[in-house]
Amino acid sequence: MAHPDSTLITHIGELVTNDGEGVFGARTDAALVIAEGQVAWTGPASQAPAADAMVDAAGRAVLPGFVDSHAHLVFAGERSAEFAARMAGRPYHAGGILTTVAATREASDDALRANLARLAGEMARQGTTTLECKSGYGLTVADEARGLALAGEVTPEVTYLGAHVVPPEYAGDPDGYVDLVCGPMLAACAPHARWIDVFCETGAFGAEAAATILAAGREAGLDARIHANQLGPGPGIRVAAEAGAASADHCTYLTDADVDALTSARVVATLLPGAEFGTRHPYPDARRLLDAGVTVALATDCNPGSSYTSSMPFCIALAVRDMGMTTQEAVWAATAGGARALRRPDVGHLGVGARADLIMLDAPSHVYLAYRPGVPQIAAVWQAGRLAAGSATRPSP
Ligand code: NIG
Ligand code: FE
Repeated sequence: MAHPDSTLITHIGELVTNDGEGVFGARTDAALVIAEGQVAWTGPASQAPAADAMVDAAGRAVLPGFVDSHAHLVFAGERSAEFAARMAGRPYHAGGILTTVAATREASDDALRANLARLAGEMARQGTTTLECKSGYGLTVADEARGLALAGEVTPEVTYLGAHVVPPEYAGDPDGYVDLVCGPMLAACAPHARWIDVFCETGAFGAEAAATILAAGREAGLDARIHANQLGPGPGIRVAAEAGAASADHCTYLTDADVDALTSARVVATLLPGAEFGTRHPYPDARRLLDAGVTVALATDCNPGSSYTSSMPFCIALAVRDMGMTTQEAVWAATAGGARALRRPDVGHLGVGARADLIMLDAPSHVYLAYRPGVPQIAAVWQAGRLAAGSATRPSP
């Protein structure tokens, strides 16, 4: 008996399921059935059950949709001149964030909403089916709460990042700003967020402030994540481990003790190679983390300063080419890894019962994501079982 309203996708050249704990699973000549927004069946095409509708993958690959677990999409303006100067040799510094803060405060709700929709749309067309979105370019009580409410219109994975940098009006009183972030700003923001984040870095927030902010967030019901060790070595990983953070993001400059802390505290290391591309810092060493047993996620860090890419395929290509990841590890990190960074067991894999978030490539295997960098290869995207982007019809030869 066919599931009501079910869709069978068959003749899949490679079906990446990520079945099992930490394992990249792939089957060839496979099929998958979607019913009621979930994966209802996977297996060999020859044994596929009947369904109400059928899609012929014609040998193309099907993967879980990408889980982009780190993005800053609520902003106005752009910083292309800053990028051009960096490519000409100028270093990146956290202070550039304030340029975007000024533009964001000036912007109307509708202007911010339109920019957010544009970027979320770009992500969807490139295969992202779950995205996380931070505030952090408002830095007043009203502007942070507004940013989170807007983020909540495009995703449930909303992160309060009032502690991005100290805004100019608190330049002489950084402790006063930490009090604001942990007090009235948190009270206004917590109802709109699931997560709290802090940029723990020289030029932003130190270890003590970061720990205080994450603890206050926890009290208000927000789970912790952190920007750590992006621009140099520092205490961020230790703070993440002590706070029970779901994820430590960037992880570019790590000591052996940092790697041990990630392993033993089971903190996901979310690597953001778009930021190293855009700042000319060295890429993080994914191989070292994987060999130490750390769970690795890949995400875009999409923001107008350090990493203005919305493309998970681009991040996968960089991770394979320059960070010591195999193609399988990179695809796992961009799907199941991101799901672990967001503590979302329902996405990032295509086991029976998973949300039917999946992508069909215009290519026979996941390898093509790195093998053909910069080439649009996402043929179709399903979100909770519904076609969200592209087309599933068979391409003409
Ligand atoms: O993740 N590191 C802090 N925040 C962003 C950069 C933001 C910006 O430069 O505007 C990041 O790279
Ligand atoms: Fe970031």
